[in-house]
Amino acid sequence: MPRSDATSPRPAWLYREYEPVGVDLGSPAAVAAYDRHQGTDPDADDALLERLGVAAGTRLVDLACGTGSLVVQAACRGAEAHGVDVSEEMLAFARARAQRSSVRAHWHRAGFLDYEHRAEPADVVTTKSALHQLPDFWKQRALLNAAGMLRPGGTFYLWDVVFSFEPSQAHQHLHRWINTAGHPEGQGFTRADFEAHIREEFSTYAWILEGMLQRAGFDIIALESRSPTHGEFLCRRR
Ligand SMILES: C[S@@+](CC[C@H](N)C(=O)[O-])C[C@H]1O[C@@H](n2cnc3c(N)ncnc32)[C@H](O)[C@@H]1O
Repeated sequence: MPRSDATSPRPAWLYREYEPVGVDLGSPAAVAAYDRHQGTDPDADDALLERLGVAAGTRLVDLACGTGSLVVQAACRGAEAHGVDVSEEMLAFARARAQRSSVRAHWHRAGFLDYEHRAEPADVVTTKSALHQLPDFWKQRALLNAAGMLRPGGTFYLWDVVFSFEPSQAHQHLHRWINTAGHPEGQGFTRADFEAHIREEFSTYAWILEGMLQRAGFDIIALESRSPTHGEFLCRRR
């Protein structure tokens, strides 16, 4: 749940994380189309959970859970699964997904910055395709918050649009990404969506995230760049 305002008023300089930037993902139409556009694949989510060792009794928090596929798959494995998202529309979709699968999960309308984990410390914290919603200063705060909800030795998994190309070659790599990933209107995320991502969202370089993760209290176990524009970090909380 979000941090309480009762004892410590929210400073006026706090980032407005409930006002997402860039591509529209929060409207009812965007939520309904999200899984198709994103290529959400419950089997792939399940394979990821297997890699992360998520099993019965594991306490998992998925930050920016979106339509909830990973959380529901974790609950299907018997995990105590928490999904956190700023979007009420996304959470409604995720709750319905859990209901269809006849599993119980915990849903929290909260953000990277203000989610307060009230349960016992988590074994696994995940976040996919979302940390880029925050500018770098706020990413660092989000990572500190994620570390704070994990037990020592717990796992943090981050997947996102992460740049591993040489900064001097940004132009060509970004063009290639837009040209290959953009779909015609109505068939998925479009060129205009990827252009908006680059222009208005806050994807950053892997080497910047490496420093942030280390400063947040994580050891990086594995860093994999599937392409020059996407990457994943597997981390252990010190
Ligand atoms: C591209 S979707 C990713 C959803 C899901 N993790 C996935 O892998 O499909 C980004 C999600 O981040 C959520 N979001 C945006 N800013 C957020 C924030 N500051 N804290 C938590 N969730 C946020 C959006 O509502 C949206 O559901």
